[in-house]
Formats: sequence, structure tokens, C-alpha cells
Amino acid sequence: MKKVKLSFAALAVLALVSCGDKKEAEPFGKATEEPVATETTTETVSEPVTESNPLADQGKEIFEGKGTCVSCHQPSTKVIGPSLKDISATYKAKDASIVTFLKGEADPLVDPTQFEVMKANFAITKQMTDEELQSLEAYIKSF
Ligand code: HEC
Repeated sequence: MKKVKLSFAALAVLALVSCGDKKEAEPFGKATEEPVATETTTETVSEPVTESNPLADQGKEIFEGKGTCVSCHQPSTKVIGPSLKDISATYKAKDASIVTFLKGEADPLVDPTQFEVMKANFAITKQMTDEELQSLEAYIKSF
């Protein structure tokens, strides 16, 4: 009988020890989980990748190149013409088409008092293909 009691005691001790081991092991487990949580946060931050827009990139090239638009339009300041931010905001708010405007087929919405100055550029934009005009629109609306 004594032997039996002893082995029970031994089991009890073993059980206690193993419980203690598990509790000590937990913090390590948590520590390894933390970096995973940080990685998830980084993924959410990497959104700008979705903003890469080949059509808008092509539009930027035309805008600054053969379109010569950049000489009168800057991204966020009014120079001779309204800023691209202002044009973009107006066209988005009215759900209007910049392509139609550049074809000379729509009335000005942003600054009609200065329309004559802009109108001179239709000589250039009317020579452009639909794709080129759409790329200009995509570029302007990216602001
Ligand atoms: C000589 C200066 C000048 C150049 C070059 C110029 N613009 Fe403009 N643009 C203006 C002025 C001034 C206005 C304001 C008048 C107006 O709103 O129509 C304007 C207005 C605009 C508008 C808003 C039209 C609206 O609904 O009122 C768009 C879109 C635009 N320009 C696009 C372009 C593009 C694209 C080019 C290049 C192909 C270009 N502009 C080149 C002077 C210029």
C-alpha cells in the first residue's frame, strides 16, 4: 500500500511540474505572435500601390509634353489656369467628362470667364485620339 501512495504522490508532483512548465511556456508563445500582428498592419499601409494607374501616367506625359498643359496648369496652385485639384473636384462633383470638354463639345464648368484662354488649346486637343484624351482625364482626375 505504501508503494501505491508514493506513486500517487509522484504523479501529483509530476502534474504540478508539467502545469508549471506550460504556464512558463505561454509568454514565449505570445512573444512570437506579436511580430505577426505588426506585419498585418504593414499590409494595410501599402495601399498606394493600387493608385498606380498606367492611363494616368500616360496622361501625365502628354500633359507635360506635347500637350503643353503644364505651362498653365499646376497640381495645386492656380497659375494662368485653375489647379488640377480644382478642375478634378469640379468634374467629379458634377460627374462631367473632361474628354468631351477637350473635344470642344461642352461648356466650361470651372472658370467660364477665362474660357477664351483655354479655348485656344482645343487646336491641340482636337488632334488627339480618344485614348490620349482619356489619359489626360485620368491624370487630371488623379488629383
Ligand atoms: C495658355 C494657358 C493654358 C494652357 C496651355 C492650357 N490651359 Fe486649360 N485652362 C486654362 C484656363 C485659363 C482655364 C480656365 C477657363 C476654363 O475653365 O475654361 C483652363 C481650364 C481648363 C479645364 C477646365 C475646363 C472647365 O470646365 O472650365 C481643363 C479640363 C483644362 N483646362 C485642361 C487643359 C489641358 C488638358 C491642357 C493641355 C492640352 C490645357 N488645359 C492647357 C489655360 C490653359
